[in-house]
Amino acid sequence: MRDRITPLLTEAQIRTRVQELGAQLTQDYAGKDLVVIGLLNGVFPFIADLVRAMDMDLNISFMQVASYGGGTESTGEVHILKDLDRGIQGRHALIVEDIVDTGLTLFKVGKLLRDREPASLKVCTLLDKPSRRKVQVPVDYVGFTIEDHFVVGYGLDLDDKLRNLPYVGVYHP
Ligand code: IMP
Ligand code: MG
Repeated sequence: MRDRITPLLTEAQIRTRVQELGAQLTQDYAGKDLVVIGLLNGVFPFIADLVRAMDMDLNISFMQVASYGGGTESTGEVHILKDLDRGIQGRHALIVEDIVDTGLTLFKVGKLLRDREPASLKVCTLLDKPSRRKVQVPVDYVGFTIEDHFVVGYGLDLDDKLRNLPYVGVYHP
C-alpha cells in the first residue's frame, strides 16, 4: 500500500499550518463559550494538534456519522453512529473535519447541528477539495486547499488503513 503513495504535505508543513489555525481560532473565539466538535474517525490527529494550538478554555466533543453506500465517495445520506454527549444550545460550535470533498457530509451534519440552536456554527477543515463540491457549504477555516487527488494519512484513510501516516500523501491506485 505504502509504495503507492507520493508525499503531498510534510509533517513540518502540517505542523506550521495547524499552529496558524490555532492562533487564528484563539483570537476569533476569545471570551466565547466554545465547543469544538470533531467528526470521527478521520479527524483524530488533526483535532489533537489543533486544540493544543489553541490557548483558551474550550470543550471537545465527538460525533461519528456514516454515509450510506460505502466506497470512496459519499452519497449524502448520513446517519449518526455516535452523537455528541451534551447539548450545544446557546454555545459557539466549531465543526472540525479532516477533508471537505463533495460537501454532502458537512451539509447534513450542519443542518442537524443548526437545529440544536447553537449561538454560532462554523467549520474548520484540514483539507478542502473545492473542485469536487456537489453542495455549497460554507467552510470558515481551511488548512490547505488541494487538487482532486485521493489523499491518505494524518487521519485520512483508504479502507480504514493509512490513518496513522504522519504526513498527507496522494494515493495512486
Ligand atoms: P464529503 O461528504 O464528500 O465532503 O466527504 C467527506 C468525507 O469523505 C471525509 O470526511 C472523508 O472521510 C472522505 N474523503 C473524501 N475525500 C477523501 C480523500 O481524498 N481521502 C480520504 N478520505 C476522503
Ligand atoms: Mg473516511
